Amino acid sequence: MLPEPKNPESTEQRTNQGTGYDFIVVSNRLPVDRVPDSEPGDGWRRSPGGLVTALAPVMNKTDGAWVGWHGAPDETLDAFDHDNMRLIPVPLTEHEVEFYYEGFSNATLWPLYHDVIAQPEFHRTWWDTYRTINRRFAEATAAAADQNATVWVQDYQLQLVPQYLREMRPDLRIGFFNHIPFPPPEIFAQLPWRRSIINGLLGADLIGFQRPNDAGNFLRSARRFLGASVKQKQVHVRDAAGNISHIARAEAFPISIDVNQIQELARREDIIERAAQIRHDLGNPRTVLLGVDRLDYTKGITHRLKAYGELLTDGDVKVENAALIQVASPSRERVESYRLLREEVEGTVGRINGTFDTMQNTAIRYLHHSYPIEEMVALYLAADVMLVTALRDGMNLVAKEYLAARVNNTGALVLSEFTGAADQLRQALMVNPHDIDGLKESIMTAINLSPAEAGRRMRAMRRHIVDHDVERWSQDFLNALDQKAIRDDS
Ligand code: F6P
Repeated sequence: MLPEPKNPESTEQRTNQGTGYDFIVVSNRLPVDRVPDSEPGDGWRRSPGGLVTALAPVMNKTDGAWVGWHGAPDETLDAFDHDNMRLIPVPLTEHEVEFYYEGFSNATLWPLYHDVIAQPEFHRTWWDTYRTINRRFAEATAAAADQNATVWVQDYQLQLVPQYLREMRPDLRIGFFNHIPFPPPEIFAQLPWRRSIINGLLGADLIGFQRPNDAGNFLRSARRFLGASVKQKQVHVRDAAGNISHIARAEAFPISIDVNQIQELARREDIIERAAQIRHDLGNPRTVLLGVDRLDYTKGITHRLKAYGELLTDGDVKVENAALIQVASPSRERVESYRLLREEVEGTVGRINGTFDTMQNTAIRYLHHSYPIEEMVALYLAADVMLVTALRDGMNLVAKEYLAARVNNTGALVLSEFTGAADQLRQALMVNPHDIDGLKESIMTAINLSPAEAGRRMRAMRRHIVDHDVERWSQDFLNALDQKAIRDDS
């Protein structure tokens, strides 16, 4: 069951009474990020990525608190309310951002968990800081949680938090959800601290993954590297004295989006007009194609550009008839592999546009920005073809957002088989992004899809996401956590 619905006064009351919260979400980032004073606005902007997209609507409807980093180094803030949510900031120094966030989280774990598309780096100093920060998050959570509260820890940056939290507060009910893939044991084996990570996760009562494969990979790693006995997705976890402390369960809970919110926006007159304006500004081409990604090497942006560039070269696509919009939102800009990727992507876009642009038409409209959800929905409405070509992706919520916005059942989704979303959206035009010829063929199929065929596929996929929205995801996870606690207690 979801925790109690929000009572407008309850945040204040709880804080004043100091009783703590009975539901807490813990993630590396808070849903809002600090904006430098030099930029306009109220000092906050929405944090990047799918995690916030999925959890913000859940938290908006519940009476709990969110523990996380507020995005600025060397700044300590008190807890505060924002957008109907109680936020508890965890401070990080500049050095900790470098070692824990940019280093261990995004230059060790991120590439390791995404099929080693980039080479992971293993540094003991990074690992030490990762442990320190995970302990700090656990302490902040332990201090904020009411007796027997439910705590839901999120993602790969905080894999040690469940174990630390259980040591500090054995009364808590602890869930963990991994938003990214969990690698097969053969790859996970490279991590020098693999046993500690598994022990960290096993501190949770329920460990959620995007796909059954991810849950299976985790359980096989627990068996292989800890000698754990795994039965029916469960591990009996022992304390230091060798007694069974609890049973941890690992299972798939595919994440989703707030479908209603996107559908409502897609029906708004001003957003429909904005979509028409976007097409008009591109010279009203017959086909608008769209890619929307964080600028990350896992997203297969270079593969997509290569395929599109070749289609233009071959003459299968003409700049007068088609335009590709590529939104690449800035991400992890101080990590070396991200800097190199940006150079490569921007060099490729420049070359393609330099070759094919005319005074009236552009081959690729490249936008290195983040946009508010209203503008994103206008882009989804403007696009006939959505290109999701990730080399590996835990889920890919952009694919689901596109489907949610297509309320009139038109449009085509080209979807990488290496996304979690591919397990569910079977009617998409499935691609292996490494196969450039196959990708080109699928892009052409999408461009030329008959309205009847497009409608058939779109209706089936939309039915799926309407039935499986983010509320159902969180309900399923939290119900499973509740049920498990009842079973374990009896
Ligand atoms: O879903 C993966 C994820 O790493 C989230 O944990 C994170 O919030 C999002 O992508 C964006 O990444 P970052 O916080 O590093 O900008």
